[in-house]
Amino acid sequence: MSGFSREWLELRAPYDARARSAALVRHFADALPPRARILDLAAGAGANRDWLAPRLPSSTSWILVDNDSVLIDGVPDARLVDLSTGLETLDAIDGATCSAFLDLVSKTWLERFVKWLAGRPLLAALSVDGRVRFTPGDAEDGAVLAAFAADQRRDKGFGPALGPAAPKYLENLLREAGYRLATAQCDWVLDGRDKPMLAAMIESFAAAAPCGQGWKERRCRQADTGRLRLVVGHVDIVAWRD
Ligand SMILES: C[S@@+](CC[C@H](N)C(=O)[O-])C[C@H]1O[C@@H](n2cnc3c(N)ncnc32)[C@H](O)[C@@H]1O
Repeated sequence: MSGFSREWLELRAPYDARARSAALVRHFADALPPRARILDLAAGAGANRDWLAPRLPSSTSWILVDNDSVLIDGVPDARLVDLSTGLETLDAIDGATCSAFLDLVSKTWLERFVKWLAGRPLLAALSVDGRVRFTPGDAEDGAVLAAFAADQRRDKGFGPALGPAAPKYLENLLREAGYRLATAQCDWVLDGRDKPMLAAMIESFAAAAPCGQGWKERRCRQADTGRLRLVVGHVDIVAWRD
């Protein structure tokens, strides 16, 4: 078990689908060879492949890897691999993709990852970039969000996690390795129509912030009455070498 439940992945999937950039997929598709074999890293229940497959040639084949046997149970083409140790065992790949994964990894792992990529195209979708904005504001937002950001930097099995600093760190590594890049903001924008998702986000912010009980109650009331708006910043990155 990785700590990511199937319920959470199912809840977030439509928000991810709505937010992510179709334009960047075209760059990725153009950089792949015919009949490409694509690796989806930290695939969970396969939401990234589900979204990408209809946007790529039907001749594309897939390998999905994750270290959570419960999440990948029954997912076609999925293999159990711990990417903290098993990355370099993965080969016969023409391109790589991941979604909602980069915040978990460390600088050292990203350095290994770019070396392993060795010039192959990458589409890294839906990485948090640290922009979080509640409307209306609350006096405790700063403290709660700072505690959440500190929690994002905890070691998640790959060394000290980069959290929202991961996309920029990866972009720099890819440029140094001679890649061309395109990026797009793909934010979640949640409001009164998104009560279960808002409730889940409030819960995870508050769980990281011991001071946050009063904050949590206020935010839940606002979400219940449809008065709360939340933007969570994400970025998609596509990278290829000419
Ligand atoms: C936020 S989920 C994203 C899942 C999926 N990509 C999606 O967009 O729905 C993060 C995923 O990283 C996986 N993960 C965490 N640590 C891992 C590791 N060491 N090796 C492989 N997968 C890992 C988790 O099991 C989980 O499926």
